[in-house]
Amino acid sequence: MGSYVGVVGMGVMGQSLALNIANHGYTVSVYNRHGEATKDFMESRVKAQKDKVTATYELKDFVDSLEAPRKVILMVKAGPVVDAVTDSLLPFLSEGDIVVDAGNSYYKDTSRRMADYAKKGISFFGMGVSGGEKGALVGPSIMPSGDKNLYDNYLGKLLTDISAHTEDGSPCCDYIGPEGSGQYVKMVHNGIEYGDIQIIDEAYFIMKNVLGMSNAEMADAFESWNNGRLDSFLIEITYKILREKDPDTGDDLIDHILDEAAQKGTGMWTAIEGLEMHMAIPTMAEAVFARNLSAVKDERVIASKVFTDKPSVSVEDRDALLADLEQAVYASKIMSYAQGFQLLEKASREHDWNLKLGDIALLWREGCIIRAKFLGRIKAAYDQSDGKVQNLMLTDEFRDEIKAAVPGWRRVVVKAIEAGVYVPTLANSLMYFDGYTSEFLSANLCQAQRDWFGAHTYHRDDQPHDLSFHHRWEELD
Ligand SMILES: NC(=O)c1ccc[n+]([C@@H]2O[C@H](COP(=O)([O-])OP(=O)(O)OC[C@H]3O[C@@H](n4cnc5c(N)ncnc54)[C@H](OP(=O)(O)O)[C@@H]3O)[C@@H](O)[C@H]2O)c1
Repeated sequence: MGSYVGVVGMGVMGQSLALNIANHGYTVSVYNRHGEATKDFMESRVKAQKDKVTATYELKDFVDSLEAPRKVILMVKAGPVVDAVTDSLLPFLSEGDIVVDAGNSYYKDTSRRMADYAKKGISFFGMGVSGGEKGALVGPSIMPSGDKNLYDNYLGKLLTDISAHTEDGSPCCDYIGPEGSGQYVKMVHNGIEYGDIQIIDEAYFIMKNVLGMSNAEMADAFESWNNGRLDSFLIEITYKILREKDPDTGDDLIDHILDEAAQKGTGMWTAIEGLEMHMAIPTMAEAVFARNLSAVKDERVIASKVFTDKPSVSVEDRDALLADLEQAVYASKIMSYAQGFQLLEKASREHDWNLKLGDIALLWREGCIIRAKFLGRIKAAYDQSDGKVQNLMLTDEFRDEIKAAVPGWRRVVVKAIEAGVYVPTLANSLMYFDGYTSEFLSANLCQAQRDWFGAHTYHRDDQPHDLSFHHRWEELD
C-alpha cells in the first residue's frame, strides 16, 4: 500500500513537516530536487519514524509511492518554482490527484493555479503554514483554502492532526475559504508579524537609548511584560535573546548583531495590498519601511556623521516611563491587529470569501510566530459582536484599555521624538488612532486643492453625499 501523503521539498520547512506527519502515524513519501537533501534527512533526522517515511529520488517513483487519490504537499520556494515543480509532477499524476502548495505563495498565484490545473485534471489547493521550522515539526498554524470538498474528504483530518492546538484542544487549522484565501490570510498574518516585531524592537530601542537600560535590565522588563497582557512568543524570545551570550567573545550576543533587517516579501505584499485596497495600515507598512531603512546601513553611517547633534533628554521617573512604554506597546499592537483585521474583512467582502475573522484569530493562538494570549481576546471581541466588528479599538474587549493607554502612549512617543529615536510603528500607530478617532480631518483642504488644480470635485457638508460639486476657483482666461 502506498504512502498516505507525499512532501516535495526537503528544505527547512519540508523536513519538519514530513516528520510531523510521520509522528502522527501517517505514512509519508519525500522527494527533493537535489537528492542529497533527502539522503541527509533520512540519515540524520528520521529515526523512530523509519517505517513511516519513504525516501524517493525520482519524481515518478515519488508519485508511484503514493496511495490514490494522491496528496502531494509542496514545501518549495515560492514563486515560479511552484509552477515548475507542479508541471514536472503532471506527467505522473492522475485525474483527481491533489497538489497542495504549503509555501508563502502570493494569493493571486494560488487562485490562478487552482483554475489552470483544474483544466489539466489536477486539484490544486493552497495553504498558509506558520510557525517556522519548529512549528512545522511540533504543530504549526495552518490556513488551508480551495475546494471545500477536497478539504473535508481528503485533507482536513491530516491537517488538523498535525496542526498546533489551543489549551482547550481546538486545532489551529480550519478551512479558510475558496481560491487563495488561505495564503491571503497567511500574508496578513506575516504583515501583522512584521508590525509586532517592529513594535517590540522600538520598545527595546527606547529602553536602550532613552531610559539607558542595560541588556539585563531590558530582559527583565520584557520578561515581566510577558507575565502580563503582552504574553506572547515574540516577547518571550526577546528577553531570551537579550540574555544570550556570544560564545566567541562572552559579550551579549545582541550587541554584535548588525542592525540590518532582511525580509522575504510577505510584509511588503501586505503593505502593497493595503495600498491597493485603499486601506490605512500604517503600522504594518511602517514596519516594512523600517526594515528597508535599516538595510541602508552604509548610507545611515554617512548621514549620522553629517547630522551629529542628537538631542539629549532627561527622564525624571524611569519606572513611570517604562510603565508608559508597556501601554504604548500594547496600544500599538491593538492598532496593528485592528488594521490587519480590517484588511481581511475588506478582502473577504471584495472576493466573496466569507472569512470567519474571530476563528482566524484563534488559528493564530498557538503554533505561529504571532501566537499570544491576546488572540483569544480578539476572538472574544468577534464573539461578543456577533462577528461584526467595525474596528477592534471600538469593541468592549479593547476600548477601555486603549483609553487608559493613550496618555502614556503619547508621553512615550513625544519623549522618543524629543530624543531623536526612530519609533515609526509606535508613532504611526498613534497617528492612526488619532486619525481614525477624529471626526474632522484636514481632507476638506485636500479636496479643495484637488478641485482647484484638477476639477476633481468635492462633497458638501450641507448636501446629500451622492452630489458632487465643482467650484470655479479662478478665471482661466
Ligand atoms: N522558513 C520558514 O520559517 C517558513 C515559514 C513559513 C513558510 N515558509 C515557506 O515555506 C516554503 C519553503 O521554505 P523553506 O524555509 O523550507 O525553504 P528552504 O529551506 O530554502 O527550501 C527550499 C526548497 O525549495 C526547493 N527548490 C528551490 N528551487 C527549486 C527548483 N527550482 N525546483 C525544485 N525545487 C526547488 C529546494 O530544493 P533544493 O534543495 O533542491 O534546492 C528546497 O527543498 C517557502 O515558500 C517559504 O516561504 C517558510
